[in-house]
Amino acid sequence: MIKYFLAEDTIDNKDIDKLIEWLRTYPRLTKGALTIEFEKKWNGWLGTKYSVMNNSGSSANLLMYAALDTVGGLKNKKVIVPSVGWVTTVAPAMQLGFEPIMCEADPDTFGLDLIHLEKLLIEHNPAIVMLVQVLGVPHKMDEIMALKAKYGFVLLEDACAAMGASYKGRKVGTFGDMASFSMYFGHQISTIEGGIVSTDNKAYADALFMLRSHGWGKDLDTATHNALKEKYGIDDFHSPFVFYEAGYNLRSTDLNAFIGIGQIDKMEWLIKRRQENHALYTARLGGALRAQKYDKESTVCSISFGALARDAEERKKIVAALVENGVETRIFSAGNLGLHPFWYNRYGKFSAPMADRIHHTGFFLPNNPSLTTDDIGAIADIVLKAIAS
Ligand SMILES: Cc1ncc(COP(=O)(O)O)c(C=O)c1O
Repeated sequence: MIKYFLAEDTIDNKDIDKLIEWLRTYPRLTKGALTIEFEKKWNGWLGTKYSVMNNSGSSANLLMYAALDTVGGLKNKKVIVPSVGWVTTVAPAMQLGFEPIMCEADPDTFGLDLIHLEKLLIEHNPAIVMLVQVLGVPHKMDEIMALKAKYGFVLLEDACAAMGASYKGRKVGTFGDMASFSMYFGHQISTIEGGIVSTDNKAYADALFMLRSHGWGKDLDTATHNALKEKYGIDDFHSPFVFYEAGYNLRSTDLNAFIGIGQIDKMEWLIKRRQENHALYTARLGGALRAQKYDKESTVCSISFGALARDAEERKKIVAALVENGVETRIFSAGNLGLHPFWYNRYGKFSAPMADRIHHTGFFLPNNPSLTTDDIGAIADIVLKAIAS
């Protein structure tokens, strides 16, 4: 029987009660005023100008790539993608005809390896770099931003599992030209399913708002919408159903937005608990396992504590002990994405020392706000005992 789950819902009974009360007012549930309210509140929390709520972190990534394609002006279609991340960090690039080039994992943060990244930048001069803030551990952003200034690429920041983390006081998700967040169950906050793209760039924001809803202009600010109507000579009767871009329907709903607004209200508490738990794990297990390292001035906000065993054999021992003692575990994110069929069937296997190490020896331990110091101590003891056996 599982005693400690990897993920627990951040939508608690009080949230459900509030939702029921709201539903009793028989509101309209599709995307409307509450989605806009959520986006505004999110902008306030993150400190960005524009945010586009949508139905998943994966959709948020798709929207970012699609917005780049729509706005245009890219020097080519090459994009550096991480080996450690999620399938939908990479898949939209493949679907939209970009040319993804995979990068080794950094030995400290497990994000993009800086040496390999620079080599790829010199060799391919890519238009885009897709960076994952791996599991709420901020990457070395001074170095990444210096490379961006030197080589001139668009930076996409997948912060889907990193909400609430910060690098030297600056929130993760404010470094990229666009950043994505997930609000799936078990993430820092949850709207059941949900995603957000945030940006300070008006052209990207306009593209995102249109692409999210079929390609129409209704979600744009009035001045921008009017300018488009004028440019294309559209009358008021046609206007609501004129499609300016080849869009999708990736909308969320006001039901999810209602939940999201409540989640932002308790965000600081949720984040603090995850940060405390992560620090406890690091203190207890840092000496015995290889965990992600981060800058002293950074704040980590993980959704699971990820670690590497010494080798695959040791991982087997740890996993067996965890399962036996009712602690849920799994591989580290997706391991090395370059060893998955979706990638190697098209591009061949990507193999590199650190990405492979994460693939073959990495695993997750539970981190969620409800875990106490004693819970983390008990889980750490199981791991330490397994290593010593
Ligand atoms: C790094 C990263 N990107 C994207 C996603 C996709 O988010 P979603 O499950 O909301 O589609 C995840 C999911 O965990 C993730 O970890």
